[in-house]
Amino acid sequence: MPSSEFAHKEKYRYMNGFNSYHESEAVEGALPIGANSPQKPPYGLYAEKLSGTAFTAPRHENQQTWLYRILPSCGHSNFEPRESSTYNTNPENKPYEKIHHIPNQLRWDPFDLDETVDWVHSLHLVAGAGDPTMKTGLGMYIFAAGKDMDAHEAFYSADGDFLIVLQHGLLDIQTEMGRILVRPNEICVIPRGIKYRVTLPQGPVRGYILELYQGHFTLPELGPIGSNCLANVRDFQAPVADFDEDTSSDWHVLCKFAGHLFQAKQSHTPFDVVAWHGLYYPYKYDLGRFNTIGSVSFDHPDPSIYTVLTAQSDHPGTAIADFVIFPPRWLVAEDTFRPPWYHRNTMSEFMGLIHGQYDAKTGGGFQPAGASLHNVMAGHGPDATTHEKASNAELKPSKVGEGSMAFMFESCLMVGVTDWGLKTCKKVQEGYNAESWEPLKPRFKRPGPKTVENGDGAGDKEGALGDKKQVPHWTS
Ligand SMILES: [Fe+2]
Repeated sequence: MPSSEFAHKEKYRYMNGFNSYHESEAVEGALPIGANSPQKPPYGLYAEKLSGTAFTAPRHENQQTWLYRILPSCGHSNFEPRESSTYNTNPENKPYEKIHHIPNQLRWDPFDLDETVDWVHSLHLVAGAGDPTMKTGLGMYIFAAGKDMDAHEAFYSADGDFLIVLQHGLLDIQTEMGRILVRPNEICVIPRGIKYRVTLPQGPVRGYILELYQGHFTLPELGPIGSNCLANVRDFQAPVADFDEDTSSDWHVLCKFAGHLFQAKQSHTPFDVVAWHGLYYPYKYDLGRFNTIGSVSFDHPDPSIYTVLTAQSDHPGTAIADFVIFPPRWLVAEDTFRPPWYHRNTMSEFMGLIHGQYDAKTGGGFQPAGASLHNVMAGHGPDATTHEKASNAELKPSKVGEGSMAFMFESCLMVGVTDWGLKTCKKVQEGYNAESWEPLKPRFKRPGPKTVENGDGAGDKEGALGDKKQVPHWTS
């Protein structure tokens, strides 16, 4: 069965489909029929619209959800800054002041677990580009938490969509639209503005987040691949409506707004949505269901064939953010150097490892819970050990990545690294380049002189037609 073998059993129900129009009611009859905002919604519920795109966004991009809830979201005290000197997921709202743009290849040792903080305080911006106030760009985070969020707390980000890549532990997420369980090898997307509360039923958690400041994730185009493969539409799972009834407790709603933390108080639970319908909702996906494709002749295609989700810029085919995975897969290409080739790209590549060993880096420096960043035009590729092995390997069909899942956040933007990512975390490997690529030895052997048989004998002038010193492109 193409799905992950999870240590923890699923405990919630979901609705299947990517960008599918869903409707769900926890109480029969709670969804109005036909109308969105009847004069009196069923059972005395309030109707509230949550817009994930402008009202007038083209129909194929438009994402809105109607919520039918016990009390509307607006009933709360003013938001006040919280931990204003310590909460820093977008330094001072002036990212270029504290974000370092450097051309070096970077690699990080595994990031530490931290049992002292909850989800909200576990977020560390490690790298990013753009600015959430302009709804441009993306942020890349490491999270490590060990405590449940307070029983009467909810959190949302006004800055963007969270794509959560869990590396360790278990996330039990209560959202306005229902409950989601996230296990390692599953990803979860929580769009901008949706409130949620995270508990940790198995203790400490750790992982990575891509926050998309602009637009929303979509599935990549399939082009000549056809109508299936890669991440299939039916494998994305949205929660079913699930609500609490609590209009007498003190609740704190925490909000990440322009990178800073704010808090408002209210006397009712935000998880009071009895029914909802629409296109704007959180969802999860098991990376084990990814239908990987590849070469069955020679060479290998660009790694864009491993794209799970993408968020396009205004330029078609050029992504602000791609989420790409390197799952277990068969390599069968003949007369081919099978690991990735050496390359320099206009895109920037931030990689992480959920578990196992990434097949392009077998030297031991790229470990689960670690990361690497190959920025715009930074040269990289297999380390010397991997190159040596792959150049001499017997090219029989072989399976790589067994028990492993590496991933990449790729962006067309130049990515800057925060103070935390570069210094405070103390995980940067100083010798990354020296260990990986400086050991590469020259292998070039100049061939002996060749006889040029198609010259006309007039080769007495260098560079002229028929110059026998010029070696043509041999096509024997
Ligand atoms: Fe790369």
